[in-house]
Amino acid sequence: MAAAQTDPSPDLSPLTAEEARAEHAQLSERIAEADRLYHQEDAPDISDAEYDRLRRHLEAIEAAFPDLAGTGAASAAVGAKPSEKFAKVRHAVPMLSLGNAFADEEVAEFVARVRRFLAWPEDRPLAFTAEPKIDGLSLSLRYEKGRLVTAATRGDGEEGENVTANALTVHDIPQRLKGTGWPDTCEVRGEVYLSHEDFAGINARQEAAGKPLFANPRNAAAGSLRQLDPAITASRPLRFFAYAWGEVSASIADTQSGVLERFAAWGLPVNPRTRTFTDTEGMLAHYRGIAAERADLGYDIDGVVYKVDDIALQKRLGFVSRSPRWALAHKFAAEEATTVLEDIVINVGRTGSLNPLAKLRPVTVGGVVVSNATLHNEGYVRGVGADGEPIREGRDIRVGDTVTVVRAGDVIPKVMDVNLAKRPADSAPFVFPERCPACGSRAVRAVNPRTGKLDAVRRCTGGLICPAQGVERLKHFVSRNGFDIEGFGETYIEVLFEAGLVRQPADLFRLDFERLKDAVVARREALSAERRAGAELPKKAAKKKGDDEDKAIKNLLAGVEARRSIPLNRLLFALGIPQIGEATAKALAKRFADMPALIAGIDAAARTQGGLDWIEVSAVPRIGPTTRDRLLDSGLPPEGAEPIPGERVRLTSSQRDSLIAHYGDIDAARAALERAAGQRPGDAYRAFADDGEVGPVATDALIQFFAEPHNASAVAELLKEVRTEPMERAASATAFAGKTVVFTGTLEQMTRNEAKAVAERLGAKVSGSVSAKTDLVVAGPGAGSKLKDAEKHGVRVVSEADWLALVERA
Ligand code: IVH
Repeated sequence: MAAAQTDPSPDLSPLTAEEARAEHAQLSERIAEADRLYHQEDAPDISDAEYDRLRRHLEAIEAAFPDLAGTGAASAAVGAKPSEKFAKVRHAVPMLSLGNAFADEEVAEFVARVRRFLAWPEDRPLAFTAEPKIDGLSLSLRYEKGRLVTAATRGDGEEGENVTANALTVHDIPQRLKGTGWPDTCEVRGEVYLSHEDFAGINARQEAAGKPLFANPRNAAAGSLRQLDPAITASRPLRFFAYAWGEVSASIADTQSGVLERFAAWGLPVNPRTRTFTDTEGMLAHYRGIAAERADLGYDIDGVVYKVDDIALQKRLGFVSRSPRWALAHKFAAEEATTVLEDIVINVGRTGSLNPLAKLRPVTVGGVVVSNATLHNEGYVRGVGADGEPIREGRDIRVGDTVTVVRAGDVIPKVMDVNLAKRPADSAPFVFPERCPACGSRAVRAVNPRTGKLDAVRRCTGGLICPAQGVERLKHFVSRNGFDIEGFGETYIEVLFEAGLVRQPADLFRLDFERLKDAVVARREALSAERRAGAELPKKAAKKKGDDEDKAIKNLLAGVEARRSIPLNRLLFALGIPQIGEATAKALAKRFADMPALIAGIDAAARTQGGLDWIEVSAVPRIGPTTRDRLLDSGLPPEGAEPIPGERVRLTSSQRDSLIAHYGDIDAARAALERAAGQRPGDAYRAFADDGEVGPVATDALIQFFAEPHNASAVAELLKEVRTEPMERAASATAFAGKTVVFTGTLEQMTRNEAKAVAERLGAKVSGSVSAKTDLVVAGPGAGSKLKDAEKHGVRVVSEADWLALVERA
């Protein structure tokens, strides 16, 4: 771009607006074609210098006729004004993830599952495509009337970031679809990635500029696409492969392979190693072929994706939670390397977990330099599992050891094994700290009341007084799946925590401009003092920072304001309560209208939680909940009694031994069971915990969390600042949301399972019997008593064909 500014502009004075338009269009076409030849065909037809000249000419026209900027097949979007931050884009069709498999058998199971679901006979051919799984980041490109209008990252799958200005600079991404026949609205989805060569070039430039290096091509691609300055994106040679679609106003083709062919015809790059198979052996052979070629591809792939080729069948198969039933990612096995463990450090997680981290002599594992790896927990380092079973045949891990490190795709590398033959003579077993390294509070391993086993993880008891937990909890609080407070970033939380401005979530909503600015300025000054000791910051950049600071702070505060109203599930997840992940938070938000209702439910559950004797018996090894409940119902069978056929309680000898080991002798066990029988949890607890979604472990974690006064008060303070909304539910808009549907008789066009899945996807409940509460009965041939029940209760009855028509419209 520097060259463009110093080069003399072509003389445009004789051009009229109309001539300029014509010339602009012509140049745009020419550049787009050159881009295509360069990136897709690897066959450029003009020199780089000639290409630069064309681009500069285009930019000069746009400078003289600003109306033309951003139009044409190859607009010079590099000059586009950077957005302050990325706006959000709600995906019309969610961007989902894929189920994973590593073993061949899992692929065979996948094929069998699909056939079963569709009731597809063994001898009837069923085609699957097999495509390389590109290791980049997914992007959704919305074309309207063939013109690129929006590009959005995946984000959380429902909502992504608007990166249109950046996507416009990616040569692989056509700004206009070529050819004909594209739907008026056509969302093309695919992967943005970097070639190995371009990745090396980017890192070389980062290094020369003293900037941090990217760990791998995917991170570099993500960092390049999610740039506030499109000029930076433009300087990074991102590439793109199209492989899926989102919202389309008309169908593109009947098959996945057909869609890919049409994509290619429209000028979208598609991966040339895609094939179609009707047999599992063919799919697996293709997988092995691609695995063998992997090192020579010139870009990262992490597996092969199989998809049912027929799109009508894809629709029938639908989704299980966030992944399609019709696709599977067959991933490549993890990569391994050997290196020396230089140190073991302890990180304190947001829930206070003490996490041992291996500091390694840097080693390349599958093309990525690794110097940190997880050691999971205390037992893992010692070589003892939570259940007392040996890990690595009992070999412990020590500083100085030579270890094997593995890395599979995205996941954090881990230390797998240790080579005892290379252990230094003076090494000593690692001593796991019993105090939190961040706050000095005691760090303990709790007994899990459900299993009676020691928790594998040692946790700090310092709660919110522990700086590591405070900062980590707050970072989690503002993170994407939590409050998602835009622009807050990790640095701000640390600064504000250190300055004492934000110690608990509610404080975020009580910030004011002046105090926030003081903290940020103090931080900047400290930083630049640090830098002055090292490399000098360019003056201009520093000044620009100062100018933008007020604006950035205002934006930050606006981001906080925007979250004063938040879906209940997000708030719950954001609190970072152990055991309450996103799925459980959603299950809770479905059941409780708001936080006070939930807290009342937790209080009631806490009051009717089992007594200590009940908790104790629940903790006896080898006595599971079913056996426990039966023992509490009918007591311990008398010693020596022959098991009577049909008798409800039968203990195996190891269960009996376990009770004796726990209570001392069988009489003590019997007495304890009698006491425990009177301390069983009450209805409120059971109602809370036994809904099939939340469960006792999460229930106990909630009870424990709210029993801590500082947690209860932090939540109360937060609720003074924010209002909760009911959970956002994708299906709530459909006509079937919340309706109860009953299927009866024989269905001819789909299996019962499939019909149930379709109904549930639309938000309906499927029930096995008809009552006055039933909303719809779908009756096939042979329907009997349920049909009569439907008449009795005046429930609407439709045929399978009618049902399919309703589904189509929903
Ligand atoms: S299909 C609904 N095809 O893998 C399924 N995904 O692990 C949509 N990916 O989020 C995805 N190559 O970012 C599909 N040929 C391919 C892919 C591919 C890479 C990525 C994509 C997706 C992730 C899931």
